[in-house]
Amino acid sequence: MFGNGKHARGSQITGWGYFVPPRVLTNEELARQVETTDQWIQERTGIRERRIAGPTESTLTMGVQAARRALIKADLSPSKIDHLIVATATPEQPIPSTACMIQDEIGATKAAAFDVAAGCTGFIYALTIGNALIGSGDCGNVLVIGAETLSRIVDWTDRSSCVLFADGAGAVVLQATDSGTGLISSVLGADGFGRNYLEVSAGGSRLPASHETVDGKLHYVRMNGREIFRFAVDKICKSVRQVVLKAGLTPKDIALIIPHQANRRIIEASARALKIKEEKFFVNIDRYGNTSSASIPIALSEAVEAGKVKRGDYLVLVGFGAGLTWGAVLLRWGESPTVSALETYWDKLKTSPFFREIRHAKRRLDRVKLGDWFDRP
Ligand code: ACO
Repeated sequence: MFGNGKHARGSQITGWGYFVPPRVLTNEELARQVETTDQWIQERTGIRERRIAGPTESTLTMGVQAARRALIKADLSPSKIDHLIVATATPEQPIPSTACMIQDEIGATKAAAFDVAAGCTGFIYALTIGNALIGSGDCGNVLVIGAETLSRIVDWTDRSSCVLFADGAGAVVLQATDSGTGLISSVLGADGFGRNYLEVSAGGSRLPASHETVDGKLHYVRMNGREIFRFAVDKICKSVRQVVLKAGLTPKDIALIIPHQANRRIIEASARALKIKEEKFFVNIDRYGNTSSASIPIALSEAVEAGKVKRGDYLVLVGFGAGLTWGAVLLRWGESPTVSALETYWDKLKTSPFFREIRHAKRRLDRVKLGDWFDRP
């Protein structure tokens, strides 16, 4: 029963996981493709290398891998998921949603599924929606995924953007709790005035794909780096302050801040402006670059796995991105589930392609049976 105890019904992260493609693209390799240097990229962005999806990898395949890992960690059967939310700016295809595809792949047969488009803030938006769904009392288990294949929308001849973006996926399982741990406060914001600062202008209803849009490179991401930089530092600072205040805490209470990984200098400038030690900001941009909606769940998973997050710690996740959008979530880390090896094995099996084939075969059989019924005289 939730909501009957000392604390109101809330949600906490009980599972986490990430996947990045094995292919590493170093700055040196990039410097052979465009006019740049390893030194420039490291000094101006903090990136040393990034992961790039191979021909058989995509937002769907990476999202599935991250989801499986998070479900195993939470020891939760996919059939128990009530809502599956995917934050992405690079969906598998325009229709249907990537969330529906992941739902089918992992066997989340009872889950409502939808995508959230909020640029690089997508994961923070999706987490906030998931928390609200659980808080409403209608459901208990939400799977939130951030997955991106930005390498497919990057202009590999544009040195100001191709050095930044990369591919990967991260996921968390949110479950109902009345323990007082979990998500405590959040802030979300948007300012469409800056919608042209970061955009892919073609491929939608205004400019559908045509020879002209392809020739004009309008399916690639275009960005005003300097404007985004200024906006990012401002919004990180304001969002962190607001979310901490809303929770009735002070910045000193925060054990770790996990920011969207867009540029190391953005994180450093934010730390200075907030007067919070840089060590309190988790950074892994050096190895993964900017993976948009995936960057915060990847960083969170790495931070937990590295033992940087302890039970009872207050964490802030903060993001910003295309839209322009921004947002932050403050949470108190709860108990980690203990999972037996046998349970892990069984959960792994249930999300596997083998089980998906069995489910599909059963659905085909059901369809035939239904067809027989309709054909009866
Ligand atoms: N290698 C070498 N030189 C470069 C490169 C490169 N890869 N890219 C740009 N330059 C040059 C520019 O041409 C410019 O040369 P010029 O002075 O002769 O004109 C010079 O470097 C300085 O350019 P700036 O744009 O001022 O460089 P800046 O220090 O601002 O760094 C950067 C550029 C890295 C893009 C930075 O502005 C930034 O990180 N902005 C934020 C971008 C961002 O976070 N985007 C995504 C956020 S939302 C989301 O994640 C989807």
